[in-house]
Amino acid sequence: MQATLPVPTSGIDLFADDVLHDPYPALRELRDAGPAVRLTGYDAWILPRYEHVRAALADHERFSSAHGVGYEDQFNALMKGTVLACDPPDHTRLRAVLSEKLAPKALAKMRTRILELGDELVATAVAKGGFDAVTDLAAVFPVTVVADLIGLTEEAREPLLSFADAAFNTFGPFNARTQASLPFVSQMFEYLNTVMVPANLHPDGWAAAIHQAADRGDIEAASVIPLLSAYVIASMDTTINGIGNTVLLFAQHPKAYQEVRSDPSLVGPAFEESLRLESPAQGFFRRTTQPVDIEGVTIPADSKVLLSYASANRDERKWERPEEFLVRRNPVDHVALGYGVHGCAGQGLARIEANAVLGALVRRVSSIDLAGEPVRKLNNVIRGLASLPVTVRTEER
Ligand code: HEM
Repeated sequence: MQATLPVPTSGIDLFADDVLHDPYPALRELRDAGPAVRLTGYDAWILPRYEHVRAALADHERFSSAHGVGYEDQFNALMKGTVLACDPPDHTRLRAVLSEKLAPKALAKMRTRILELGDELVATAVAKGGFDAVTDLAAVFPVTVVADLIGLTEEAREPLLSFADAAFNTFGPFNARTQASLPFVSQMFEYLNTVMVPANLHPDGWAAAIHQAADRGDIEAASVIPLLSAYVIASMDTTINGIGNTVLLFAQHPKAYQEVRSDPSLVGPAFEESLRLESPAQGFFRRTTQPVDIEGVTIPADSKVLLSYASANRDERKWERPEEFLVRRNPVDHVALGYGVHGCAGQGLARIEANAVLGALVRRVSSIDLAGEPVRKLNNVIRGLASLPVTVRTEER
């Protein structure tokens, strides 16, 4: 064991508006401050470097999710019983219920339909010549796909987006964004209890499968609502912003876009590179179960530790030219989808969805130009856009 070093500290507020607009200089400062840094404005630490974020994700025994993966205890309590907020062996049981529907075999059956849907949506948007790549495209697609898979009726879809945005805000500190989100979080629980009941759900959908698992006794009845909430929260804003962020990067990097057009097998790698560079989920907290030594800096037991995926994914100790959008990099070991037992359960689906939309764009659109300033949507966890006006030129391939 190394000698204990003085604790690196920082007063940076990662949840302040100006930092959320452009978090990258602050994250770089934190990476340079030390391998583990105590955030003096909060009762928390941050791991800002790739090596330690990935190691912590693989070490659920010392970096536990059981207290919740947000900052505030009151909201972590609401997360109790969700797949995100537990450790093995409880986690293994809950995750198995979700994984069944998200496994490669189950996804293979949906792939063709999702690709068709993506192409239809892109064709409609592109026919207008100009459109908002967030509100007309990225935000429409995952809601349509995921709501179908969950088995929701048309009327039940409308509030979904406000729920996910609000829920992710409550993973941060109790700031103005979290306060403004509270009414939507209450509505979400009301919705999960009253709308997502078997009578309103398609019997073959994901949500009905969770109710059926409880009826069979595979999971406790008390796990139904927490598991349903995972679908509602985790599956939409993440994918929407993953797609929206990629379209912005394409518009900002016309040469990279042409490279992908000339070799459409780069659509997948370009999406991974976008997830690395503009990680839609910027980070989640863990709680240390014992004192943890990180290169000579000791994090005490029972500390809240922010695992910064956004910082890890730009760590110059890991990546060459980390600030650049390199569509051939194919950064398969980024941590934008987490890693370890909590690694994203829906990553296969997210990749199919991204391929559907981005692949159709690349096929149908010869150039993408910004038609106005992109508008950022600030959220305590999610990095993304409220609006991305673009004009496109077509030349079908
Ligand atoms: C680009 C899109 C997506 C991104 C960036 C993303 C990101 C993440 C991340 C970082 C985690 C790890 C959480 C942690 O470390 O505590 C996670 C977990 C999870 N994701 Fe995703 N996600 C995406 C899409 C989806 C989709 C489409 C679904 C569902 C259909 C989904 C369902 C889940 C679930 C259920 C978990 C919890 C897994 C567990 O705790 O075992 N995600 N996601």
